[in-house]
Amino acid sequence: MKKLKCAVLGATGAAGQQFVEATKDHPWFETTGLYASERSAGKKYCDAASWIEEGEIPEYARDIVVKNVTEIEKDIQQYDVVLSALPSDLAKIVEEKCAKEKPVISTASAYRYDADVPVLVPEVNYGHIPLIEQQKKRGWKGFVVPGPNCTTVGLVVSLKPIIDEFGIKNVFMTSLQALSGAGYPGVPSLDILDNVIPFIGGEEGKVEKETLKILGKINSEGVENAPLKVSCTCTRVHVKDGHMETVFVETEKPCSAEGYKAAIAKFNEKCRKEFGDLPSYPKDAEAIVVKEEENRPQPKRDRSIGDGMSTIVGRIRSDQIFSNGIKYVVLSHNTKKGAAKGGMLGLEYLVKKGYVK
Ligand SMILES: NC(=O)c1ccc[n+]([C@@H]2O[C@H](COP(=O)([O-])OP(=O)(O)OC[C@H]3O[C@@H](n4cnc5c(N)ncnc54)[C@H](OP(=O)(O)O)[C@@H]3O)[C@@H](O)[C@H]2O)c1
Repeated sequence: MKKLKCAVLGATGAAGQQFVEATKDHPWFETTGLYASERSAGKKYCDAASWIEEGEIPEYARDIVVKNVTEIEKDIQQYDVVLSALPSDLAKIVEEKCAKEKPVISTASAYRYDADVPVLVPEVNYGHIPLIEQQKKRGWKGFVVPGPNCTTVGLVVSLKPIIDEFGIKNVFMTSLQALSGAGYPGVPSLDILDNVIPFIGGEEGKVEKETLKILGKINSEGVENAPLKVSCTCTRVHVKDGHMETVFVETEKPCSAEGYKAAIAKFNEKCRKEFGDLPSYPKDAEAIVVKEEENRPQPKRDRSIGDGMSTIVGRIRSDQIFSNGIKYVVLSHNTKKGAAKGGMLGLEYLVKKGYVK
């Protein structure tokens, strides 16, 4: 198969670097253009990007000269797909220009809340993909498919088996979010060393809104939100990668720890059937990995399970406050599953289903 050519926008940032990494040696895609700000334009990628990922900058990307993102509109016909990791205000303008011609996979929030846009976490809501057809009414030949906020990803994946088997009334979540979630250079070291910051601007509202949309049902007007309530507190902790969350769920029907684990096993089986043939789907691990040790998951030890594409759930136990309730801790790699590599899985599924050719 001839590889599809990709442009990465925001290629020098935390999420953009993961797109560069995720398309290295990819059997279906190759990145041939890298775009960022005026600050990086004209420099070789290896000089423009402060590489924060593990290992070296992929060899293929080192000498590509970064262009200013203002040039993507005139270059667009060179590419089959655009991978966008731009700040949201800029993404609003640039992604529209690209979507007029080509499919755009995005980590930004710019289009997440539009009625004709699915917020794609394939394992949870691949049924929302037909919404893409409605974007043609905008006069676009392509489309925009964003992933959710990185904090939403672990939450919705871990809630999906519960909502399917037991129904959900209320969710309370407290996050312990990694530094790379704030991008590069991110939080000043003197603010975060030896510290926890109990506020991340805009994050709680995004997680609450996106969770209801992703777990909702598609209808002729868009997505009808899932009929449940979500309340979050989002905090930043001194961890490089991997967002951890403590989750309390009030269910419709009684849900025991064993019941939740059985629902996870069923979910994993469905996921392997639907996505197991895709290059970015975890090879050596399930979609949800249950840790039985009483002190897991831990970001440092567990974030790379399934090459950062598995959602890790542990400390599953019944909750005493709700009459029907379950509580657990979930961990998800924020720049992999929660951003670029999660976007790649969505893109691969869109190829499999014929939406990207
Ligand atoms: N980090 C995560 O874990 C994560 C997870 C999910 C979603 N996201 C979303 O992904 C997007 C990128 O986040 P990030 O964390 O990767 O941010 P980041 O590290 O700050 O990177 C931002 C990127 O955008 C470029 N950029 C900034 N201003 C620009 C301008 N005026 N014109 C052109 N390019 C510009 C930067 O280029 P220069 O280097 O040249 O300045 C850089 O490549 C955001 O929308 C974010 O909300 C991030």
